[in-house]
Amino acid sequence: PASRHARALLKRMTLAEKIGQLTMITLGDQPTGPIADPVTIAEVHAGRVGSVLNLAGPERIAQVQALARATRLGIPLVFGLDVVHGYRTVFPVPIAEAGAFDPTLWRETARVAAAEARRQGIHLTFAPMLDIARDPRWGRIVEGPGEDPWLAARFAAAKVTGFQGADLAAPDALAATAKHFVAYGAAVAGRDYAGAEVSATSLAEVYLPPFRAAVEAGVAAVMPAFSDIDGVPMTAHAALIAGRLRRVWGFDGVVISDWDAIGQLVAHGVAADLAEAAALALRAGVDIDMVSAAYRRGLPEALDRGLVEPEAIDAAVLRVLALKERLGLFEAEPVAPAGPPPAAEAAGRRALARHAAERSTVLLHDRSSLLPVGSPRRIAVIGPFARAAGGGSDRIGPWAGLGDPDQASSLPAALRARFPDAEIVSRVGVDAHRPGRRDIAGAVAAARQADLVLLCLGEPADWSGEAASRAEPGLPGDQPALAEAIFALERPTVLILTGGRPLIASAVIDRAGTALMAWFGGTEIAPALAGILAGDVPAGGRLPVSWPRSIGQIPIFFAERPSGRPFAPDNPFTSHYLDQPNAPHFPFGHGGTPGAFALSDLAVAPVTVGPAEEIAIAVTVASTAARAEDAVVFVFIQALKALPNRPVLELRAVERVALAPGETRRATLRLPAAALDRLGDGAVPEPGRYAIRVGLDADRSRHLVAAVTLETR
Ligand code: IFM
Repeated sequence: PASRHARALLKRMTLAEKIGQLTMITLGDQPTGPIADPVTIAEVHAGRVGSVLNLAGPERIAQVQALARATRLGIPLVFGLDVVHGYRTVFPVPIAEAGAFDPTLWRETARVAAAEARRQGIHLTFAPMLDIARDPRWGRIVEGPGEDPWLAARFAAAKVTGFQGADLAAPDALAATAKHFVAYGAAVAGRDYAGAEVSATSLAEVYLPPFRAAVEAGVAAVMPAFSDIDGVPMTAHAALIAGRLRRVWGFDGVVISDWDAIGQLVAHGVAADLAEAAALALRAGVDIDMVSAAYRRGLPEALDRGLVEPEAIDAAVLRVLALKERLGLFEAEPVAPAGPPPAAEAAGRRALARHAAERSTVLLHDRSSLLPVGSPRRIAVIGPFARAAGGGSDRIGPWAGLGDPDQASSLPAALRARFPDAEIVSRVGVDAHRPGRRDIAGAVAAARQADLVLLCLGEPADWSGEAASRAEPGLPGDQPALAEAIFALERPTVLILTGGRPLIASAVIDRAGTALMAWFGGTEIAPALAGILAGDVPAGGRLPVSWPRSIGQIPIFFAERPSGRPFAPDNPFTSHYLDQPNAPHFPFGHGGTPGAFALSDLAVAPVTVGPAEEIAIAVTVASTAARAEDAVVFVFIQALKALPNRPVLELRAVERVALAPGETRRATLRLPAAALDRLGDGAVPEPGRYAIRVGLDADRSRHLVAAVTLETR
């Protein structure tokens, strides 16, 4: 509810000033789309701007804020930025960090990013991104928590509380934005900005739940997706924004359009001009227009033409003012926001970034048992990501805030520090973007004498993220040829992959002695990798997505609906491919030292539960690992009968179980009976039988299975 102060301000505002509060302009130099109608600083001076994105640097922010405070009404600006996986200290990209399956870590890294950014004058981040993505052709899969809605909902809650803390006015808090509402990740054929094809059931059960979790965690803002559902662009989707988000879920924060998205309602073919576009968006519940000219130019005309009610403008303005109040902006802000943190704090942040990188790196396989690598005398670091693992921005990935790539040490430098007696040589060999520029012979010569080869391949940071869809999401350029030449040497070879999505490179991955997925692991990925190779710590990550074997398997995810003809090897008329298995190359949850953990003795009690009861799921977890390592235990459910039917697997609990070498522990996970529910608004679990499936990943063939019956009493 709006405060008395906000209402009093509203009464004093002209229409232009009201629309100004609904206008977000860019003053930065990082456009991610067209700027139809560039707005100058003079508009701030005139009180016709409410918020600014992409301006960085405390002095510049303070200068522009001073202009706003000096206007007739003195309403301060909100400064927003995409602080996605770090501001200065860069943590692993979200898809990587999701694979740590560690809500404490998720919260902690968001808290650090928030503190760094707020100290530098930023108030609002356009994160977390909560789009479920089941198609790695879509470049933005890098920014979200992967394929599963239950996992994404946990990620949402942790990130929102991490960014926002208990009080948005605190000097280390950022207002969070849950984006992109909704089903942006379902873009047809994985092509960014294409429409989404989703059924009502999957909208309810897959795409909406992470957003509901963000709202329940108190998220300050929501950003609609660029895409449309059933022909209605999300920026104009009244049923989902004004209806579901605000009325049903009770969201009372601000809705901020994506870049130019209101103006683009014309290109979407649902508005004839900016006045209609503005009216559609405002009536749908979009409060702030990011960068398009629609509200500034279109709203006055929309009012004249009777397309919008003045009350709708007032309601949006009050929501914006309420956000400014929550952020404490009407109180005296420090004249220049505080400077960088003290050195001791910076060291703590780097340690956290290293821990996050270790927990996010995934061991895909260790077929030749190369880990730990012992004391190699000569290590050859080969490939376009050799200097980097990845070079410069390829270490820290897309949307890395103001992260300085040069602050992240290179892999050769980190290896020199960890293996001081080894000779380290490095050769790039090929260009990661395009074929042609190559020195494969030089790379081979460097690797020939090595007793350990680290083959650093992947996709560059600018081939991942927004507008970075790939029809063939494998290893671009001549990387496969380089890999072939290196494998032909038959030296012990560890493949280290850098990238923002599962890379479809089955032949290369399988031929390596060992394969690690380092993602874009952030500022500290290089020392983290050196430590993993040395055996100081295990690669702690697990895959938050199914890793396809081929492009033809896309989309691929574990929560498929049951088929009437499920695959049976001896029956050709069952659901399968003639030329490939149905199973992904690596399942969701895959990772950890292969064969190091065994689950046994699953016990579920009670076996008959009432709706208000709890189910205790106990399982014995044994480690045969030579070093301390966490087992990651997944609890899935399977509703055996329901209409509409339920997926063959639904994730409901995950626990990291810390085990000393050779230790055996009994782990107990508790599920309320309500968790047997299908995800989705107001659903109550259907009475009946449920399988409880416990495993180390989503491969059903390896699960321990028990049954419970839910009764209505
Ligand atoms: O926050 C982003 C959004 O995810 C994509 N378009 C640009 C916005 C602001 O940078």
